[in-house]
Amino acid sequence: MPSIFRLDASIRQDGSVTRSIADSLEAALVSADHGEVSVTRRDIGLSPLPATAWANAVFGPYAPEDTRTPEQQDSIALATRLADELVEADAYIFALPFYNFGVSQHFKAWVDVVLTEPRFAPGADVLIKGRPAHLIVARGGGYGPGTPRHGWDHGTAWYRRVLEDIWMLDVQVIECELTLADSTPAMEELRGMAAENLSNAHASAADGGKRLARTLAAKAA
Ligand SMILES: Cc1cc2nc3c(=O)[nH]c(=O)nc-3n(C[C@H](O)[C@H](O)[C@H](O)COP(=O)(O)O)c2cc1C
Repeated sequence: MPSIFRLDASIRQDGSVTRSIADSLEAALVSADHGEVSVTRRDIGLSPLPATAWANAVFGPYAPEDTRTPEQQDSIALATRLADELVEADAYIFALPFYNFGVSQHFKAWVDVVLTEPRFAPGADVLIKGRPAHLIVARGGGYGPGTPRHGWDHGTAWYRRVLEDIWMLDVQVIECELTLADSTPAMEELRGMAAENLSNAHASAADGGKRLARTLAAKAA
């Protein structure tokens, strides 16, 4: 049975746009008539990795095994588990918010720990190369050409750099902007556009889920 790895990084459950778009994608994927799929989830938004994991996973392996601290042992084991989750999946859903004009710190921490694992170390053969992935990004404001903050999105390019260029995944990107319009009085006039963005993102997610189901079924045949 094909397996999907889904990663959520929103720090909220209720009202999370990335989670709801990922839910649409997942629902379309599992309900498509192409056989069963299993979904393994990791929620780094609500259950972040320990902030000390990265340093321990970076430096632990340099210490002789019998001298490693319990924290180093735990962090190395964590890196192994995270790498296993990636390697064991056939396809991926990454649901990643935009925070403070940049990336989710929890996603950055997760990537940092994964990159300490020998299978994902720089220079290693990329084991997950070419596998299908969906990157779902939600931004509260708007950052397109002509907007006052065009050029201020310092998050999405890095998400893509990691997934497309470092891990060489075959990434479909679903972006949803203006998610703060409904709750921000100053964005009132943008609410129509925001609703349209959201509806388009859900439609893209549903299409993407169906397409992914077909791709996985074809690979399994
Ligand atoms: C702490 C915090 C910081 C944020 N910073 C920004 C920001 O710099 N620019 C922006 O456009 N939206 C910002 N947002 C809004 C989020 O990008 C938006 O709410 C998005 O929908 C978050 O994903 P989620 O709905 O899955 O939680 C921020 C939200 C939070 C909670």
